[in-house]
Amino acid sequence: MSQSRVIECLTGRTPAKKRSKVPAKLDWYQSLTGGLLGLFIILHIAFTSTILFGPDAFDWMVHQSEGAFIFGKPASWITLIVALAVSVIFVAHAALAMRKFPTNYRQHLIFLEHKKLLKHSDTSLWIWQCVSGFALLFLGGAHLITVLATYDSISAASAISRFNQGGMSLFYFALLVAMVVHAAIGIYRLVIKWVPLPYDQHGGTRLAMARIKRSIFGVFAGLGIIAFCADMIYVKLGHDDINNPIHLTQKIIKEQ
Ligand code: HEM
Repeated sequence: MSQSRVIECLTGRTPAKKRSKVPAKLDWYQSLTGGLLGLFIILHIAFTSTILFGPDAFDWMVHQSEGAFIFGKPASWITLIVALAVSVIFVAHAALAMRKFPTNYRQHLIFLEHKKLLKHSDTSLWIWQCVSGFALLFLGGAHLITVLATYDSISAASAISRFNQGGMSLFYFALLVAMVVHAAIGIYRLVIKWVPLPYDQHGGTRLAMARIKRSIFGVFAGLGIIAFCADMIYVKLGHDDINNPIHLTQKIIKEQ
């Protein structure tokens, strides 16, 4: 460790008696990665919700997003590159966000008592952001690994079968709830943090913040409802398929 680093460790300041700019930079990267993921989630909901128009619409959209309109046929390496990029941003965002989690008993106690005493809605929202973020680490991580392992066979049929295997629909519902809660709170905090609001001593700034919160939460609630309807369609199509006489005959032949 260099001498200046040792001094900073002991005093919390650089030898030039300045505070390090690293925490501010890490905060900026956390916002950037969160913003990119928020944008991706909006596109992702539009992408998975095409199932509302039927399996053909979903397959058409997968082919077009894999560049069929340029190459004449789908190029699944595009999905692989996007999935790899999203995974890197996802892991970086999680690593940067974990710095902020309360890590020991005392920090948890301070946070929970602070929340109880203040009764401040944004402070309470932060706990939901931590809980949903923690859930996403496992649920989102498992989903990304599935996508990376099967990037060359994404289709309505594979999505329907995944939704209907061994109660996996519950996994997707849990992922959806964690994703919508986390993204809505995250985007709200991003706007409050980085978009300057004009100061109004008569409480106008607070009213503007409340309006922003309502709009962002409204948009994500709407997107969540659309995605939920899409999830129900994946489940229904899988159920119809299982009760399809051809499917049943094939199953019986296989079992014999
Ligand atoms: C490039 C990366 C990704 C691709 C290509 C992708 C693709 C898909 C596909 C094809 C489905 C349909 C079910 C299936 O086949 O598994 C799906 C469902 C879903 N994915 Fe992703 N996904 C990606 C990343 C993510 C991330 C990072 C999240 C959130 C953390 C996420 C959240 C969901 C949710 C909640 C569903 C359930 C359907 C819905 O409610 O919209 N996905 N994804």
